Amino acid sequence: MDNLTTQLALIGFMGSGKTTVGRLLAAELGYDFVDLDALIVAQSGLSIPAIFAREGEEGFRRREREALRSVAGRPRQVLATGGGIVLDPANVELLRATGLVVWLSASLAAVLSRVKEGRGRPLLAGKDPGAAAELFAAREELYRRAAHFIVDTTGVAPDEVAREIAVWFRRRQREG
Ligand code: S3P
Repeated sequence: MDNLTTQLALIGFMGSGKTTVGRLLAAELGYDFVDLDALIVAQSGLSIPAIFAREGEEGFRRREREALRSVAGRPRQVLATGGGIVLDPANVELLRATGLVVWLSASLAAVLSRVKEGRGRPLLAGKDPGAAAELFAAREELYRRAAHFIVDTTGVAPDEVAREIAVWFRRRQREG
């Protein structure tokens, strides 16, 4: 990592605010904003639930890997990733090799209240709360290990979160 690194990737569980915060952060830094899920939808012409239905989670993960590889390392970009990006260690390695990684952490209650019955999210839709809690617990350590910086978003407004990350990022860029 050197001080020329200008890609900032946001990771975290579904409903942690990656897209909302990412947009605000990109505007604040004057960077491009890239949403990986939106890119997958644009590249495939299919919605995320349609990809899961047709190709299973495996097919989605393959598309996710390819989408990440097609954009990783571009200069001056904020990358909002899907919650499962950390499942593949090669994705994490690539994100860390091409930029800085920030985990938007949040309590389980906070993320569940934000995802509204898992609409558009096949891994949550129609599942009982126990299944979501299990997935949440299994992901925590992966996010922690992947992150250069962790910001707790529970009860914090998105613009506040974006500002906190921008302050850290600018300091980190200066320090190299
Ligand atoms: C997933 C998260 C989703 C999307 C897909 C799988 C996950 O993105 O990539 O439904 O495995 O956590 P968001 O985190 O933006 O909801």
